[in-house]
Amino acid sequence: MSNESTERKQSKQDQLIIFDTTLRDGEQSPGASMTKDEKVRIAKALQKMRVDVIEAGFPIASQGDFESVKAVASVVKESTVCGLARALEKDIARAGEALKPAESSRIHTFIATSPIHMKMKLRMQPDDVLAQAVDAVKIARQFTDNIEFSPEDAGRSEIDFLCRVIEAVIDAGATTINIPDTVGYNIPHQFGGLISTLLERIPNSDKAIFSVHCHNDLGLAVGNSLSAVLNGARQVECTINGLGERAGNASLEEIVMAVRTRQDVFACDTNLDTTQIVPCSKLVSGITGFPVQPNKAIVGANAFAHESGIHQDGILKSRETYEIMRAQDVGWSDNRMVLGKHSGRNAFKSRLQELNIEFATEQELNEAFSRFKDLADKKHEIFDEDLHALVADTNWAIENEHYKLVSLRVCSETGEIPNASIVLEIGGEEVSASASGGGPVDASFRAIESVVNSGTQLQLYSVNNITSGTDAQGEVTVRLEKAGRIVSGQGADTDIVIASANAYINALNKLEKNIDREHPQLGDV
Ligand code: KIV
Ligand code: ZN
Repeated sequence: MSNESTERKQSKQDQLIIFDTTLRDGEQSPGASMTKDEKVRIAKALQKMRVDVIEAGFPIASQGDFESVKAVASVVKESTVCGLARALEKDIARAGEALKPAESSRIHTFIATSPIHMKMKLRMQPDDVLAQAVDAVKIARQFTDNIEFSPEDAGRSEIDFLCRVIEAVIDAGATTINIPDTVGYNIPHQFGGLISTLLERIPNSDKAIFSVHCHNDLGLAVGNSLSAVLNGARQVECTINGLGERAGNASLEEIVMAVRTRQDVFACDTNLDTTQIVPCSKLVSGITGFPVQPNKAIVGANAFAHESGIHQDGILKSRETYEIMRAQDVGWSDNRMVLGKHSGRNAFKSRLQELNIEFATEQELNEAFSRFKDLADKKHEIFDEDLHALVADTNWAIENEHYKLVSLRVCSETGEIPNASIVLEIGGEEVSASASGGGPVDASFRAIESVVNSGTQLQLYSVNNITSGTDAQGEVTVRLEKAGRIVSGQGADTDIVIASANAYINALNKLEKNIDREHPQLGDV
């Protein structure tokens, strides 16, 4: 890279824009679909963390997606709210409509530019793709001046064509150029090189911010994004906990903390309030039912736990011997015990407010408070994590009335076959059943299925303890598949068999809500 172009890049490099796509690409993880209210809760948490741009969804995908983007656009005031649109007039108009209430909005339009996507998916000639990209940006300008353009599969596109398309869309008014490694194929030095080549070769590159959007198929999404930043990218697209299509996207927490921790290497920084990272991670994990692996950087339960005696000794003498970040700087707090059996409604409500959790109605709050009281009878200390799980359960209890667990009794004894007897309320009527199984959870699922006959396949069953101790709540995730549709259900209880049954029923209720949505990257343009 020449000195001159390095200087040009560095003159803009104080701020690294964080573009969060948890609500759009994150939701493309099979089974991670979120309701409108859940998206609004996450969007508020992202705003509190000072994320610059929140991609709230793909408005043309379904009526639900449209409503969600509109709802996020209505409540978020301090971050820019973005909607995704293929390079089609109908998509762009729908995004423009959904974003109307936003204080600051962005339309993100895209079309594939790699030879394989143009030939096999779009069945279009490169010149027609270029013309459609330019038209899309011009149409988007009728709605906003803040336009992002992505040449999908840029990571496998031919450089000359990529340069032509980008130059043309900047001329047409695109203000951010996002370079996606759609299939996670790139390697850090190569992807960084791509960014510096684009910045150098495209004559009007200084008229736009260059962004990257990396997928994690080879586990390189964060590495590729950081390499791009070192080479002049000034926006990174990422998701909380690295959620996203297939192996996911670059994880926000890793990008932000790498840049913040290594200010000796990066000549830019984000505006983020990093103390919101862990609460946000827990919120997203609780809502989507995608657990965070314990050894996950920054947000995993073990990220700051020092097991070996040598490390513990070093930490006691001087924290920096083995710690490069402070746990409290990313939102881990020691003072986690919040409420108990004797806490009243006001204490409960004000703690929820501190956690950024609001209820739309008094009925929802009452329902949550009554669950809190039940929980406090079983469990001495109620932590923030318990409250998140409890609130997630409450929302589902209210939204999904079709199947309800009335009671469950399980028998599990050494040498005996476990048996479960269940009473379900289905569409207002009580139905009982019992079944045997390999264990109490298996027996409970069989009992539920003996009355529901859902025709689903169990794809995943996982249990996590929300906090520590044997009285901790178990948080269960169940992923069910039916005719290509995948849903995740969650349940939390101090009794993991009850949590499991609730998770299973939660997934069945989600399947009941048969919402069809288009996928942004499949189908014709
Ligand atoms: O992965 C991708 O290419 C995308 C685009 C829509 C930016 O998600
Ligand atoms: Zn993507």
